[in-house]
Amino acid sequence: MNIDRDSLIAAARAASAQAYAPYSRFHVGAALGFADGSVVCGANVENASYGLSLCAETAAVAAAMNAGIRGGLVAVAVIGGAVVGGVADPVTPCGRCRQVLSELAQLGGTDPLVWCVGSDKVLELRLSELLPHAFGP
Ligand code: THU
Repeated sequence: MNIDRDSLIAAARAASAQAYAPYSRFHVGAALGFADGSVVCGANVENASYGLSLCAETAAVAAAMNAGIRGGLVAVAVIGGAVVGGVADPVTPCGRCRQVLSELAQLGGTDPLVWCVGSDKVLELRLSELLPHAFGP
C-alpha cells in the first residue's frame, strides 16, 4: 500500500505539537508509515540533562516497536524546527536516528522514503541514501 505523502506529513506536524523541547525550543514530529497503512508518530523529548534527549524519529520507532511492529516501514515524514527569517529548512534525521530507523526497516526488508519537511520544500530521499552501507541485524 502506498502511503500518501501529504497525510504522513500532516501526521508528523500533529505529532510535533506533543514535543517536549523546553531547552532547544526545536519542536520535531515524525510519522512512520507502514505497508498495511498504519501510521505511528513520535515527538522529541528533551531532558534537563541535555544529552539524554530523544529525537522524534527515535521516539516514533520506540512507539512502533512497543506496538509489536517489526517491519513494513515504507515511508517516514519529519517536520519541525526553528524558523529563521520566516523559512524553516527541511529537518533531516540525525545520524543516530538514521541507524534506529534502519533497524526497523531492515527487519522487514524495506528501504523507506524519507520526507524531510521544510516550510517551502520537501526533501525526498531513500533511507539508504541517508545512511548508505548501514550496519544491520
Ligand atoms: N531533533 C529531532 O527530534 N529530530 C531530528 O531529526 C533532529 C533533532 C531534536 C533533538 C532535540 O530535542 C532538538 O531537535 C534540537 O536538536
